[in-house]
Amino acid sequence: MKTTILFLAGLFILNFLPSCVSSVEKEEPSEKKIQELISKMTLDEKLGQMSQFDPFQFGNEENMKQAVRDGKVGSILNLVGAKKTNEIQKIAVEESRLGIPVIIGRDVIHGYRTIMPIPLGMAASWNSELTKKAMAVAAEEAASEGIHWTFAPMIDISRDPRWGRIAESCGEDTYLTSVMAEAMVKGFQGDDLSNPKTIAACAKHYVGYGAAEGGRDYNTTNIPEVLLRNDYLPPFKAAKDAGVATFMSAFNDLNGVPTSGNEFTLKQILRNEWGFNGMVVSDWSSITEMIQHGYAADKKEAALKALKAGVDMEMASNSYVENVQVLLDEGKIDRTTIDRYVANILRIKFELGLFDHPFTPEDAAEKTILSEKNMAVAKEAASESFVLLQNKNEILPLSKDISSVAVIGPLADAPHDQMGTWVFDGKKENSVTPLTALKQKLGPEKVHFAKGLEISRTKSTEGFSEAIKAAQKSDAVLLFLGEEAILSGEAHCLANLNLQGAQNELLDVIAATGKPVVLVVMAGRQLTIGSALEKAHAVLYAWAPGTMGGPAIADMLFGDTAPSGKLPVTFLKTVGQIPLYYNHTNTGRPATYGQWTDINKIPAEAVQHSLGNTSHYLDAGFEPLFPFGFGLTYTTFNYSELQLSSKTMGIDGSIMVSVTLQNTGRREASEVVQLYIRDRAGSVTRPVKQLKGFKKVSLKPGEKQKIDIPLNAKDLSFYNGTAYVVEPGDFDVWMGTSSASGLHGEFSIN
Ligand code: NOJ
Repeated sequence: MKTTILFLAGLFILNFLPSCVSSVEKEEPSEKKIQELISKMTLDEKLGQMSQFDPFQFGNEENMKQAVRDGKVGSILNLVGAKKTNEIQKIAVEESRLGIPVIIGRDVIHGYRTIMPIPLGMAASWNSELTKKAMAVAAEEAASEGIHWTFAPMIDISRDPRWGRIAESCGEDTYLTSVMAEAMVKGFQGDDLSNPKTIAACAKHYVGYGAAEGGRDYNTTNIPEVLLRNDYLPPFKAAKDAGVATFMSAFNDLNGVPTSGNEFTLKQILRNEWGFNGMVVSDWSSITEMIQHGYAADKKEAALKALKAGVDMEMASNSYVENVQVLLDEGKIDRTTIDRYVANILRIKFELGLFDHPFTPEDAAEKTILSEKNMAVAKEAASESFVLLQNKNEILPLSKDISSVAVIGPLADAPHDQMGTWVFDGKKENSVTPLTALKQKLGPEKVHFAKGLEISRTKSTEGFSEAIKAAQKSDAVLLFLGEEAILSGEAHCLANLNLQGAQNELLDVIAATGKPVVLVVMAGRQLTIGSALEKAHAVLYAWAPGTMGGPAIADMLFGDTAPSGKLPVTFLKTVGQIPLYYNHTNTGRPATYGQWTDINKIPAEAVQHSLGNTSHYLDAGFEPLFPFGFGLTYTTFNYSELQLSSKTMGIDGSIMVSVTLQNTGRREASEVVQLYIRDRAGSVTRPVKQLKGFKKVSLKPGEKQKIDIPLNAKDLSFYNGTAYVVEPGDFDVWMGTSSASGLHGEFSIN
């Protein structure tokens, strides 16, 4: 048996204490001012700071202004435009008794006006620098419109594509999501929150929200502590370490305790273990929803439970305002707790510089919104998010000398839908669609356009004949299928992941023309597109690519850029395979096809026995349609010479894992070199593979490069039910092009 090395205490010292200490040191001057302010505040003013409302909740503008004047509002969400926000801020700082500025929040999820790809697409870029740049653009545009705080990034691990909010996530993997979490936080917040071009970020939804039962939004989650700590919490820890200013408690019931009243996650883990001293905001009415959950009898009990767990600010509902006085009178909470929460809220207002610079220059927006620079970032982000899934006979890239193309499908010219879900401020008139971009690139006379279907859900085949004609008179067909923006996002979950409406039928009739078909799928999630692979020659998965999606697609189809995205989620053959993710733990009878490889070949009245059985479906096997990390490009890469700097490492040591990568094709392109490990045996079972590092590199034809990825013992630690441990033992390591292929090596920890 292995010896388990307990290092819980060590891990706290290593990981948790330094960030806590340094932020306290940094903030000392404002701490004094915070305490001075608190000493002057009435309870009503304190509760005002702890309340956030949407303008519509006040009934009319005058009521909102009066509430701000009376010190009853600490934060407003969804007020936009420098003129409007300045007007409210002026009342807060000049007419309220203590002159405390309000903090304005907004869901700036993947862009403000210049819309970037949906987060799932950004994650498919596997490019953290680019992600950071994209979020910095979003921050600058939002800040120019008076917004101080975004409710992003959403870093919920999402392993169920039925869940509509998978679009807003970074996918199924803990490591990739953690890397993206850090990049997004740093992008939004920059190095200095008081810089007028940055905004505060919010790590959400804390925690486990993406594990909703059945993929139905808001649903119950049951996540054992080992899984919670190893898979769901690390992205939040990464956001905390990156300096995220705020956290949002979630809607979901986690193991019987709703996350907005969960002392274990909010108090023990976030505050005590991680030392987070920023602000926690509830989700919209998630405190009072604990009544519906059956965890609180009434608003008073809901307020008490959220306060005890440590939710500083209540979004949209008013259980704090209504109940804190009586909870204090009854001795159920104490004043120092309330003061601590108010301090957390004031601290971020100081950090944002709102006391010194409360207003937004009214000419700021025109300098940044939709600027050439921002549009260029949006195009680059879209381009890097695309994943090439299939390219039979190297049909892509197409030659620009092609005499004509048919552009077909409900998403070829859908400026609204290409922006994707969670877009409040993007405008469809700013989107450049594939149709527009292709006409620009090739000349309008070379493009024969026919929608075929009005929208993605259209069932009528009326438009097919025109689409067939367009295909027949062209050399190739570019077919844009997928799903509209409204089919993913909050509460927009699906039980069926096939192409909606008559899209499969459209593909059938177009394929029947015999013309080469390039299928571009735009969607907020991985759809079950297995049957389309047989009919289309090439398939490019473009997610919802945002404002500049069209030009990015046109460039890629005609070879001005090469695909470099890799899947951040496992693609399924059928919805019945859910959950299917690469980093699962094993069964005692690991999946193989066993006796029956084809359900249709099982003889009638075949004898059923229990020998040689394994974990798989008779009708869908166990393999995905495409594995996590998969993605092709216009060249080929060869991996060779896997090397480990040492075959052993100490429990606090590290090794370098290297591989030689060569571009063996004819075009320059990028590859994401991925490093996976497997801990062969542990004190709790370990996943069959885990991503632990990656590097995106661009190579010219023939070019060779040695790729080094460090592996620290610390990266191999896990929570085993009692403590975070690094356990001595044997490990597999792979370096390769996806989670399903790679050169293999071995090492051990001793
Ligand atoms: C509810 C959503 O769950 C959350 O993500 C969002 O930030 C808030 N509404 C505010 O719009």
